[in-house]
Amino acid sequence: MMRDFEGRTCIVTGGASGIGLTAAETLLTRGASVHLLDRDQVALERAVKSLRDEHCDRVRFEVADVTSTEECNRAVAAAHAVAGRLDHVVHCAGIFIGAALADAPMDDWRRVIDVNLVGTANVLQPAAHLMNEGGSIVTISSMAGTRSGAGVSAYAASKSAVESLSRSLAKELAPQVRVNVVAPGIVETPMSNAPGSAASIQSQPAIPLGRFAQPEEIAAVIAFLCSDQASYITGETIHVNGGIHMK
Ligand SMILES: NC(=O)c1ccc[n+]([C@@H]2O[C@H](COP(=O)([O-])OP(=O)(O)OC[C@H]3O[C@@H](n4cnc5c(N)ncnc54)[C@H](O)[C@@H]3O)[C@@H](O)[C@H]2O)c1
Repeated sequence: MMRDFEGRTCIVTGGASGIGLTAAETLLTRGASVHLLDRDQVALERAVKSLRDEHCDRVRFEVADVTSTEECNRAVAAAHAVAGRLDHVVHCAGIFIGAALADAPMDDWRRVIDVNLVGTANVLQPAAHLMNEGGSIVTISSMAGTRSGAGVSAYAASKSAVESLSRSLAKELAPQVRVNVVAPGIVETPMSNAPGSAASIQSQPAIPLGRFAQPEEIAAVIAFLCSDQASYITGETIHVNGGIHMK
């Protein structure tokens, strides 16, 4: 395994579970120091305990809710302060609540936008001030962001907006920092296993590659976009969906 992230500091939001946790593990294995940021303290402690067995003092965590500007400012600054640098932000924190617009309680609708879209801005604003030159950011959208679909109006709208926000930020931070998006299809994580999840709501579209993704297959693309191998890619969305949605 390459150690191309040696000496680099990364924040991984949503790092207590699923894609975030797997991305953190991949970056740690490639030599990075990783700060997991998540609102779920119990899951964070469990995640850090398992990661520390192999990666000891290179993994830390910050408890923060991405809907809180103050908590994000504090957590991002704390992660930066440890080594005085911030090279990568991988923003995976997100929620899915599915319902047809006609039936969706507006509080649920707003909550999805607040966590998925406003949460992205809350994390990336302090990061934009602290990122090192040559750094890169990866946000997570979804195939729903381009494909939309019945029963996913808030989620799809939030993810389209994350893609748009990421492109704006890519222009604002160039040439010092690159910003890209990974748009997964259906990935086997706690989110897709939950009742009423994307996997069930999108009525199991035919998947040309014949199966759901494993989180490692998303983490590999995240790590590629963070790495110097992607040094000329910015403002791009990479679709990783087994061929469900071809652009
Ligand atoms: N699993 C899929 O099929 C799938 C498909 C496409 C996109 N995605 C996206 O990938 C990202 C990661 O999803 P996952 O499948 O790993 O889900 P997951 O539920 O396993 O992990 C999400 C993590 O985000 C954290 N989180 C949620 N709200 C938060 C908040 N307000 N503040 C801080 N942390 C918060 C949770 O505590 C959890 O640890 C999400 O943005 C999701 O929308 C997932």
